Amino acid sequence: MTPFRLRKRVKSLLGRNDAPKIITYPITFVLPDGTEQTLEVEEHYSLLMASQGLSSPISTGRRAGSTCPDGGCDLCRVEIIDPSGLSERTDFEFDVMQDHADGKIYEGRSREKGDVPGPNTRLACHTKIRGPGGKVKVRALVDFESLRGDESGT
Ligand code: FES
Repeated sequence: MTPFRLRKRVKSLLGRNDAPKIITYPITFVLPDGTEQTLEVEEHYSLLMASQGLSSPISTGRRAGSTCPDGGCDLCRVEIIDPSGLSERTDFEFDVMQDHADGKIYEGRSREKGDVPGPNTRLACHTKIRGPGGKVKVRALVDFESLRGDESGT
């Protein structure tokens, strides 16, 4: 599979009959400032991938909102307001959040304890779009100003 299903998208744009139809669903993001933004998101995308359509993607604490390699950093937390059309939370996902809440070492380094996960707490990189109607509250967006650095380029 190509990243972001590029082959499927190109075939679809060229009108190839054998290309599977791209299915999208509306997902609403409640941004940290309280504004709401609804995006049409391709089925099977994660909330984190879908957030690339916002003015700034969901913050993961990593450069430009990229994901951690193992889906275990717990820095892309969101709160689900309406779970319609979203995948179920997995045991692994809950364990990642609980490990952070317990202050367990991650990537060989200690870290501050995270919040205890509530029943609606999810990881944006684990939550997949399966249908319409999802609504999610975003804790933080990538702060592009902080990535810019100073005039010396550092
Ligand atoms: S980006 Fe690391 S758990 Fe989601």
